[in-house]
Amino acid sequence: MAERPSGSLTSRHFRSEMVPLPQRPADAVLLRNIFVSVAPGARAAMQGPTHRPQLLPGEVIPSSVVAEVVAAPPGGPEPGSIVGGAAGWQEYSVVPTSDIWPLERIGELSQHLGLLGRNGLTAYFGVREVAQLRAGETVVVSGAAGGVGHLAGQLARIAGARVVGITGSDEKNEVLRRRLGYPAVVNRRSPSFADDLRAACPADVDVYFDTVGGLILESVLPLLARHGRVVCCGVTAQYDLDRPPPAPAGLALQLIAKSLRMQGFLVADYLPEWGAAQRELYALQRSGELTALEEIRDGLDSAPGALIEMMAGGNIGQFTVRLAPDPAGWPS
Ligand SMILES: NC(=O)c1ccc[n+]([C@@H]2O[C@H](COP(=O)([O-])OP(=O)(O)OC[C@H]3O[C@@H](n4cnc5c(N)ncnc54)[C@H](OP(=O)(O)O)[C@@H]3O)[C@@H](O)[C@H]2O)c1
Repeated sequence: MAERPSGSLTSRHFRSEMVPLPQRPADAVLLRNIFVSVAPGARAAMQGPTHRPQLLPGEVIPSSVVAEVVAAPPGGPEPGSIVGGAAGWQEYSVVPTSDIWPLERIGELSQHLGLLGRNGLTAYFGVREVAQLRAGETVVVSGAAGGVGHLAGQLARIAGARVVGITGSDEKNEVLRRRLGYPAVVNRRSPSFADDLRAACPADVDVYFDTVGGLILESVLPLLARHGRVVCCGVTAQYDLDRPPPAPAGLALQLIAKSLRMQGFLVADYLPEWGAAQRELYALQRSGELTALEEIRDGLDSAPGALIEMMAGGNIGQFTVRLAPDPAGWPS
């Protein structure tokens, strides 16, 4: 990060540097990154503290990575093995061994940052654990064409829900309808958004899978059914703001009056269950029930532009940046 942004991201907020490899502390691993993710969480960290400390100018943009282990402490992963990790937009990273995890040897390697990585797992645990979804319920998903959202909506559909997707463009909504089987879609940028949303939800909304917060959360709250649930996954709408927006008006009374539940979660809360979830997500993809969308860009220098585009709503599915070719022998 070259400087802390205020408002929308631009290329001047980023800088790329060639530096010597840092010394590896005794309890750390040296990784050669193969894929790095592009995610709004990086923008959030540039703004202020989240589940990680605020990023300072000169620090590396944080990201999930898929990487080859180059060197590790005795008893650690074998050099040459492929792992997932919390690292950053770097060709090589030195991270504590506690920040890497083994990968299930399934799927395309890049999918370990999408369907089989944080996004797929966030969708999975948000829908399966936090939403407590029942067949026949109405589920609204915001950011519904995004990395998490396009999978969350499909998982809700597979669980028997009627899914209503919210995105920022008619083109994305067409993809949701045609390729992902969403029965109803709404464009958040339309002047008639509130009416369109109400019309798309003739029955009350049982679950709101919220990836954006802000005004969309405020619009969905009054539509919730008694005992409705809000799955607080992300607040992309506030990541560009210097101060978080005020909470929706009358929030507490809305929660009380309809016995609503609003619950935040982090995908890391479910770490011990990741393996089983990855195998299930992969099986759903193989059976054709679940479609995972990803776009891969090449080279570290493409990462800032991809994040700028994502924050402006330009992505459909996951954006991933490839830094090195897939290693030989990875199953697909
Ligand atoms: N809880 C967890 O453990 C966890 C894990 C992973 C991600 N997350 C969070 O989940 C959210 C989605 O992540 P993702 O990687 O899947 O990103 P994404 O949804 O693929 O990309 C962000 C999308 O947000 C929408 N957006 C941007 N600015 C907006 C605004 N002002 N108001 C409303 N929508 C706006 C845009 O879509 P449209 O223009 O189509 O609306 C954009 O494409 C993020 O907030 C992320 O931090 C949480």
